[in-house]
Amino acid sequence: MNNKFLKTVALSMVAVMGFLMAGCSDTAETAAETAETAAEGEFTTVTPGVLTMATNAFFPPYEYYEGEQIVGIDAEIAQAVADKLGLELVIQDVEFDSIIAGVQSGMYDIGCAGMTVTEERLQSVNFTTTYSTGIQSIIVREGSDITDIDTLIESGCMVGVQTGTTGDIYMTDEVGEDRMDRYNKGNDAVLALVNGVVDAVVIDNQPAQAFVAANEGLVILETPYTVEDYAMCVNKNNEALLNAINEALAELQADGTIDAIIETYIPSEEA
Ligand code: ARG
Repeated sequence: MNNKFLKTVALSMVAVMGFLMAGCSDTAETAAETAETAAEGEFTTVTPGVLTMATNAFFPPYEYYEGEQIVGIDAEIAQAVADKLGLELVIQDVEFDSIIAGVQSGMYDIGCAGMTVTEERLQSVNFTTTYSTGIQSIIVREGSDITDIDTLIESGCMVGVQTGTTGDIYMTDEVGEDRMDRYNKGNDAVLALVNGVVDAVVIDNQPAQAFVAANEGLVILETPYTVEDYAMCVNKNNEALLNAINEALAELQADGTIDAIIETYIPSEEA
């Protein structure tokens, strides 16, 4: 467990180093190249004038439906970024599992989905600056014999997760393929827990709280599993867009907008 925690911290450092290195190579450029970079600084988007964001909108309070509209921390931060870049934000609700491939293949400009920065994902996409953190939590039914990650592993029980999430990746590692039950939506995994199809669900702590509040008879174990950084992913070939988003995020961080958005959805007395 500690291992994973350290890995996450190390990853954040890799991201920072990548950022610094990008800065260094800039200063090494000739004047002509710098001029060219400035021109490239004008980023492109999949649809001109639009920031196309892919998410999976069953992940409260980061993204969820209010009527027909997708709202939440990610939706609002992406909207604030789009405003800064002079773009219209269009949100597409897709399977979580398909977001990175879609960003890679140029279907979406960004993936913004409470997405954890991982070493493996960094092979496929770039990540912006982190704007929030999450913790993998374990949800069980009230009175369950599973009281922490060790009893979960020993119990031999079935574990429910959302396909392709870090919860999926970590738990597959811990308990093996045969004990995994994967769902396209986090709330479907929780429903399976309610119905006794699985005995534990591993999912990020904020949606975990929302799901437990919405379903009787469930509890979140006190022992969190691992801490993670959330960031938006961007196509590796679109560094101009990555830089522009990072600049916008820095401004939104500095003027308190991001904190205010998070506070709206996660009041600090609850955090
Ligand atoms: N943080 C986890 C991950 O990156 C889960 C994210 C799930 N997000 C969602 N919008 N359904 O793998």
